[in-house]
Amino acid sequence: MTSVTTQQPIAFDEKDAYKDDDCKFSGRLLVEAFEGKFVHATSRGRIPDMRVYQANTQRRRPPEFYKREFIVEYNGEKAGVCGVRFLGDNDIYRERDEDMPSLGCKGSCGLYCVLYAIENETIPPETCHVDHISVEARFRGRGIGKSLLDIAEIDAKRRGCKAIYLWVATSNREQHLYEMQEYVIMEKYSLCGLVWCQTGEKEFARMEKTLV
Ligand SMILES: CC(C)(COP(=O)(O)OP(=O)(O)OC[C@H]1O[C@@H](n2cnc3c(N)ncnc32)[C@H](O)[C@@H]1OP(=O)(O)O)[C@@H](O)C(=O)NCCC(=O)NCCS
Repeated sequence: MTSVTTQQPIAFDEKDAYKDDDCKFSGRLLVEAFEGKFVHATSRGRIPDMRVYQANTQRRRPPEFYKREFIVEYNGEKAGVCGVRFLGDNDIYRERDEDMPSLGCKGSCGLYCVLYAIENETIPPETCHVDHISVEARFRGRGIGKSLLDIAEIDAKRRGCKAIYLWVATSNREQHLYEMQEYVIMEKYSLCGLVWCQTGEKEFARMEKTLV
């Protein structure tokens, strides 16, 4: 995997604060990561709106935001993205009305349910939350997902974290990747009826790895 290189922060430097192609790439892969839920909550025809929305959520954020996002390149092409969160980060990531697409009543309700399902939690101290990980479909199965988890872990240790965790839908086979990376299931959580109904996903597992 010598051809896998990383770039951090993804979109921030002192002179040129925001790189738009990073925001677009990251936004597109975020939609891929949660595509099933977005489709269920809105409709397949809304996926382009979701990409615009997710790219918008990446723009005009404080520098700390971009220090928590990692893009991996494969043979010089952007191939995967991963985002981490820490205690006290909520304000950096807060939803902004101006990023929201116009989805109508049903679509907006569905989108809020997805956001509620994937973002509503308090991160414990000295702990890193892997919020999202997504690899471009054509680059999957080449160790990029594993590299992204390694990067997240290195960053968490650098910040003094004792543990790193993520949530995964129990229906999702990617759990296997996390098990191989020594994450273990700590608890399972069922979404309430409305959120389950809107996202199409009922049960999630919190998988955690102790950092030494
Ligand atoms: C999950 C994901 C990030 C893995 O990325 P990847 O680059 O394909 O993963 P890797 O190549 O590093 O895989 C490492 C190992 O995990 C296994 N693995 C990866 N994804 C898997 C999956 N979906 N199901 C079963 N096993 C999987 C691989 O088989 C590989 O094992 P091996 O080394 O024994 O062959 C990628 O499949 C993806 O982007 N999925 C869609 C988005 C998503 O579901 N994200 C999580 C929610 S935020």
